[in-house]
This record gives sequence, C-alpha cells and structure tokens, in this order.
Amino acid sequence: MKIFITGADGALGKEMQQVLHKNSINYVASDLNQLDIADFKKTNEILLKHRPDIILHFAAISNVDYCEENKDLAFHINALGTYGLAIIAKKINAKILYISTNYVFDGSQEKPYLEHNATAPINEYGKTKLIGENYIKDLCTRYFIVRTSWLFGKGSKNYVPKFIADDKKSVSINVICDQFASFTYTLDLAEAILLLLKSENYGTYHFTNRGVGSWLDFGLKAKELMKFKTELNPIKVKELNLAALRPRFAPLASKNFEFFFKQNLRSWEDGLTEYIKSIQK
Ligand SMILES: NC(=O)c1ccc[n+]([C@@H]2O[C@H](COP(=O)([O-])OP(=O)(O)OC[C@H]3O[C@@H](n4cnc5c(N)ncnc54)[C@H](OP(=O)(O)O)[C@@H]3O)[C@@H](O)[C@H]2O)c1
Repeated sequence: MKIFITGADGALGKEMQQVLHKNSINYVASDLNQLDIADFKKTNEILLKHRPDIILHFAAISNVDYCEENKDLAFHINALGTYGLAIIAKKINAKILYISTNYVFDGSQEKPYLEHNATAPINEYGKTKLIGENYIKDLCTRYFIVRTSWLFGKGSKNYVPKFIADDKKSVSINVICDQFASFTYTLDLAEAILLLLKSENYGTYHFTNRGVGSWLDFGLKAKELMKFKTELNPIKVKELNLAALRPRFAPLASKNFEFFFKQNLRSWEDGLTEYIKSIQK
C-alpha cells in the first residue's frame, strides 16, 4: 500500500504520518512547500511519478474567516484543487480520501447531522469544501469523503496550547459559549482513516468523537483535567465580529462508520483526557 498525503504538515497530516509510521506503511508526505495543489500541471506530474494506491487529500485553507475574506483563493484551493486531485485519482485508479467538514450544514436542524442529511453551507469555507465533495463524487468511484469537526490533538491550533501558554501569565481568556458541535481527537480520526483505507467500503462518513459541546465546555473540561488558573470568560460568537458566519448547532452523528466497522466512537471527554495525558508526559 503506497500512500500520498496532501497537507501533510497540518494538524491531521502530522498525526496521520505518525499512525502510518507506527503501522509500517509507506507514504509520501507533501505540503505547500513541496506541492501547491492549486497548480494542476505540477500536481499531475508529481502524482503520475509516484503513482500511489491511495491519495489522502487533507490540504485546504482551513481558516474559516480567511476563506470568507479570500473567496477566490479559497475556491481555487479547496474546490478546484480537489477537482484536480479527483481527476488524477481517476486517471491512476487510486483510492482517494477527502476530508470535509460539518460546515457543509447550516446548523438549523435541532439534532446532530447524519451522513445523508441535506447540505446548505452558510460560509465560503463550507461552500468550497462542499464543491470539493461534489467533484470527488462526480468523478471517482473509489472514494471516501470523511466529514469531521473541531479537531484537537498534538499539531492542532485548538485551545489547549493556548491554555498552557496563558497559564504562565495567569490571564483570563474569552471562550465561545453559544456555538455547538462535535469534537474530534486527531489520533482517533487518523486511526479511523486507516481502517477505511484498508476497506472497499466507499462513500461518505461522519467521524468525530461522541458528544456535543461548545468551546467553553471544552475549555472547562480541559481546566478540570489540567488544573490551570486562567479564567474562562464565556463570550457569544456575535460579540467577536468574525468575518464568517458559523452554524449555531452542527454536531455530526455517525451511522455509516458504526455500520461497517462495528466500532463505538469514544466520547470527546475521553479523547481530551488522553490527549492531555500525552502532552503532560
Ligand atoms: N481543523 C478542523 O477543526 C477541521 C474541521 C473539519 C474539517 N477539517 C478539514 O480537515 C483537513 C485537515 O485539517 P487541519 O486542521 O489539519 O488543517 P491545517 O492544519 O490547516 O492543514 C492543512 C494543510 O494544508 C496546507 N495547504 C494549504 N494550502 C495548500 C495548497 N494550495 N497546497 C498544498 N497544501 C496546502 C496548509 O499549509 P499552510 O498552513 O501553510 O496554509 C496546511 O499545512 C482540511 O481539509 C480541513 O478542511 C478541519
């Protein structure tokens, strides 16, 4: 099994590399420095040279507000970049796994979103990621679309490293309290991706840890586990004047992964506990 990763230096990419390494699986890691996925000619050339069996497509502009302020660029990378990779995967008959997001939903549903629920993104990031999904579905047959939400883990820009840094200064920080979704430990996601890759169970999956919360809930749990002094001030999204709208309630419910792999996802609190233990070692 030969794997090619785009966006390999990102939070999920770094965790995936460790999981592949631990399982002695060959991979080629690439990120913006080596390969800009918006450059189709070069991407085509490099992938035709490597001819991987599997493309793990993680590269994206993942900053939601930056996408809103740079619509053309977000479209070029998140949507067209994915179009290019779908074409190449088809050409070399590789499996392709594309990471998408809960932001393809508008957040108006009162319960967690299932894989088949109707999409209706309300920001540019969600729109461009959904266009990417559609290119993959239209062009490839051997594909996995994995929608996930609010990643935390070793390489991610979540609140935990901020809590650690701020604790030394004993300051208080604002944490959003009125937006709700699912959290995902990157290690759990990377291990689930490996299971998917080894299978032929193609299609769309939701993968997150179990449970729903706000970033304030996440912060309070982290505070309980890490016992830091920093005070957490609840703040409403509206007060932050962010460029992009966010869905108010967009947790993901997973049916397909449990159906095929008979695995219960652990709770985000258990994932967070393990993550914090791993950084405190
Ligand atoms: N983080 C989340 O909470 C979350 C939630 C749902 C879905 N996702 C999706 O999950 C995937 C991985 O997320 P992540 O948190 O690991 O993101 P990340 O840390 O931002 O990693 C994405 C990587 O892609 C790189 N990249 C950007 N433009 C590129 C280009 N044109 N060509 C090649 N590489 C490029 C980025 O480089 P730079 O850093 O230099 O831009 C970065 O290293 C993304 O597809 C994201 O949309 C993330």
